[in-house]
Amino acid sequence: MKELLVNLGENSYNIEIEKGLIKDVPKRIRKVFNGEKIFIITDKNVDKYYGDIVLNSLKEDGFIVEKYAINPGEESKSFNTLPEVYEKLLDFKLTRKDLIITLGGGVVGDLGGFVASTFLRGVSFIQIPTSLLSQVDSSVGGKVGVDLPRGKNLVGSFYQPKRVLIDPNVLNTLDEKFYKDGMGEVIKYGCIRDKDLFNLLNSLNTREEVMEHIEDIIYTCCNIKRIIVERDEKDLGERMILNFGHTLGHAIEKYYGFSEFTHGEGVAIGMYLITKLSENKGLVKKEFSEDIKNILVRYGLPFEVELADKDAIIETISLDKKNMGSRLKVIIMKEIGNAEIYDTTVDFFR
Ligand SMILES: NC(=O)c1ccc[n+]([C@@H]2O[C@H](COP(=O)([O-])OP(=O)(O)OC[C@H]3O[C@@H](n4cnc5c(N)ncnc54)[C@H](O)[C@@H]3O)[C@@H](O)[C@H]2O)c1
Ligand SMILES: [Zn+2]
Repeated sequence: MKELLVNLGENSYNIEIEKGLIKDVPKRIRKVFNGEKIFIITDKNVDKYYGDIVLNSLKEDGFIVEKYAINPGEESKSFNTLPEVYEKLLDFKLTRKDLIITLGGGVVGDLGGFVASTFLRGVSFIQIPTSLLSQVDSSVGGKVGVDLPRGKNLVGSFYQPKRVLIDPNVLNTLDEKFYKDGMGEVIKYGCIRDKDLFNLLNSLNTREEVMEHIEDIIYTCCNIKRIIVERDEKDLGERMILNFGHTLGHAIEKYYGFSEFTHGEGVAIGMYLITKLSENKGLVKKEFSEDIKNILVRYGLPFEVELADKDAIIETISLDKKNMGSRLKVIIMKEIGNAEIYDTTVDFFR
């Protein structure tokens, strides 16, 4: 077992990473919860594989438990999904002394965490992330929220879980598409903070080989995110480093209507293109974009896109909610394992 403490004062919590943990949830819950009622929020895919395992083990341990499965997919991470979940919590008579568990990918974690942060002004919650992306990224750091018709993540809060329980074995049922998506973020961690991780990833040839090292890989990613989040919980500065590849990535995802590229694919292209741009501008040594390209190819991720309408993509960037005025902060990679914030303008991308 691997364990990490995210040190955020009174909002501190532990992350446990262990293969097979999904079958052994109750005793880990008892470490941080002494009430008796638990409500599990999941989605219909994850429910099919793991819903009853978690539900039944908790019941056998004496908890009063109910679960609710939303439809899978980003469409469910919507403001409109909230009332039906609140209704179920009211029917179950959940109180502020009880517990919510989010069992699923980033959609369930973000929506369920937001429900936990708002229902009765806040109920404790525990994350059991089941997608690679949620295990290395979204379950750590306390950003919870939902989408509005006009954009992603426009309503939300900072609300830390009481614990994060990660079972890498559940990744065996994850579709290849979502596996690759998560690997985009894993590669990002290597690029921004950890050359050893980057080199390890470069030495693995198959998903099976990755799974042999998966506990270490997840631990390393969570640890990088932990350090950054501890220094900048509310995302006012350094946390931005985690956005390497994301400015261009988001714009590409959006420009293509969120259907052509997954998030991880957008980030992959973003990481390569911004590194190439940084090289062309003489900001970094000319060599690393080739390394990024090669590792992306190794993991079946794209590195380039037909920028048929480059101006439209740049326009998309300048409309991004994070951009203040014409100034724009981008993340550039100086060398593998070392990224920094660079203050520029949208023209950087021209
Ligand atoms: N809060 C944050 O800091 C943060 C960070 C990054 C991303 N996010 C958010 O995360 C979301 C994306 O997360 P995601 O990629 O996990 O998407 P997701 O939750 O939709 O999961 C991807 C798919 O995999 C399925 N799935 C999950 N675990 C499975 C398993 N073990 N076996 C089989 N199928 C499984 C899901 O049902 C879904 O169909 C986005 O909404 C994004 O905004 C949040
Ligand atoms: Zn991301």
